[in-house]
Formats: sequence, structure tokens, C-alpha cells
Amino acid sequence: MDELVRFGVSIEKGLLAKFDALIRRRNYTNRSEAFRDLIREELVKKAWDEGESVVGAVTIVYDHHRRELLNKITDVQHDFQGTIIAAQHIHLDHNNCLEIIAVRGKPADVQRLADTLRAIRGVKHGTLSMTGAGKDVE
Ligand code: NI
Repeated sequence: MDELVRFGVSIEKGLLAKFDALIRRRNYTNRSEAFRDLIREELVKKAWDEGESVVGAVTIVYDHHRRELLNKITDVQHDFQGTIIAAQHIHLDHNNCLEIIAVRGKPADVQRLADTLRAIRGVKHGTLSMTGAGKDVE
């Protein structure tokens, strides 16, 4: 971990009160960590905008009984094997499967994979969460 540096921040009282309320809701124990995370979030967004490498997870929920779905989802994953690091299948209940797919690559590729999976009929829900690939979040 890099050396910690302290610096002063001037901020309006009202804005700080809102910030404190926000970070309480997000269970931060101190402002510094919350502030660091905000900066990291912006850096990840910047990496995304500039097309640098990002890492993340695509999660999809789909109907277990539609067997052809599993084939389609597997086909898509083979098409994107350069982007996918790992995938985990969880049998949620009698009807539903959850798939968590860890990804790494160009934002556009990752987004295309998520969109392609979500667009498959029978996929009930899909999310994409992104973070930086190392240097952006240190
Ligand atoms: Ni299943």
C-alpha cells in the first residue's frame, strides 16, 4: 500500500452534513475511506470513458426449465472467452438459475457481453458491475 498523505479540504457545512448522512447509510466508519472510494470511483469511470481495461461481473438470472437457454448462454460465453475470466452457476431454486461471470477487458467488450446475455429471451434479469483493473483503484 502507498504512503498515506493528509490534506485539508474546505467544504460548505451543509454539503458536509449531506456527505456524512450518505456515508453513514453506506456504513463507512470514517470520511477518509468514503472520500478515497469516491476518488476511485471517478478513476474507474475515467478508465471506462477512455476505453482502458476494466474488471467486473455480469450476473444474470434465468429460467432453469428453458433448456435451450443454457446452450445459448454457453455459446455466448464461448464467443467472449477472451473477456471472461470465470463463471459460476448457482441453482437458486426450483425454477431459477443465477450465473455470475467475472470479466476483464475493454469496456466496450464487457458491455457488449452483458448486453448480449441480457438480450437472450428467458434471461429475466441481468446486471453489470465494474471496477478498475488494479492501477486505477490503488
Ligand atoms: Ni441451475
